[in-house]
Amino acid sequence: MCAKPKILVIGSSNTDMTVVSDHLPASGETVMGGVFCMGPGGKGANQAVCASRLGADVTFVCKVGNDLFGDNALDGYKAEGVDVSHVLRSEKPTGSALILVDKKGENVISVAPGANSDFTLEDIDRLEDVIKGADYLLLQLEIPIPCVARAAEIAHAAGVFVILNPAPACALPPQLFKNVSLLIPNRTELEIFSGKDPSLSLSEAVAEVMKKGVDNVIVTLGADGALVCSHGSFSSVPACKVVAVDTTAAGDTFCGGVCVGLSEGLSLEEAARFATKASALTVQKVGAQNSLPFRNEII
Ligand code: RIB
Repeated sequence: MCAKPKILVIGSSNTDMTVVSDHLPASGETVMGGVFCMGPGGKGANQAVCASRLGADVTFVCKVGNDLFGDNALDGYKAEGVDVSHVLRSEKPTGSALILVDKKGENVISVAPGANSDFTLEDIDRLEDVIKGADYLLLQLEIPIPCVARAAEIAHAAGVFVILNPAPACALPPQLFKNVSLLIPNRTELEIFSGKDPSLSLSEAVAEVMKKGVDNVIVTLGADGALVCSHGSFSSVPACKVVAVDTTAAGDTFCGGVCVGLSEGLSLEEAARFATKASALTVQKVGAQNSLPFRNEII
């Protein structure tokens, strides 16, 4: 039997504390009557666990604190079948995120990155063989950008397929785009990377981003599905019609799903359809990793 393609995720690990209430508080307002839950999160961790639940061979590298939250996170990733043998520890506390969700499932998130911000270029350089040994590298922007850029550079030079989910959006070094095989922004991130020109249509904005050197882009559009663009040709993937209770980690599920789909030989559009079904399951439950789907749930 052939070995499965290796997916490497380098990124953040957080502890998420979520309150679901009727509406999001305005500045200075206190909203009563919410329901609290706590669980593992972080865009990197969510994408790694998602890919593992969908059946892939996943290694996850993150940096956590020498604390109970860090220990719990690693125990959780191991239990999910994720290889955590290269995880790093920091003197800073494990990252945490405070998440508020309203009755429509929309959220606001504030992150204290803690140990995630302690990743160094030396850490990435020490991972060189692990990066070169992967088939897919999945990256986000919750660890220092120079580390993301260095990991992408090593991977790209070794012929590894690099997927970047540019979340949360921030200024990126131009060379990073050239080392990315597939960019998966949401609408807001696309706007930022295409120059915030309101006169541009969605496909024109994608074309602007592709000029930076990315061959493939999938824009996630929430309830409007996704726009897939590969080497200049566009196709739309509709969203599944579901009632969302919490959209946290929907984007992470999509990225994990696309990566797994591609690793199984699907086309970009087929992988986006598969990932859309996975995300539709995530939004029907509260929480980040707690809500990620398993392979047998996707029909
Ligand atoms: O994408 C969702 C994630 O963003 C949450 O799990 C939270 O930790 C933040 O990183």
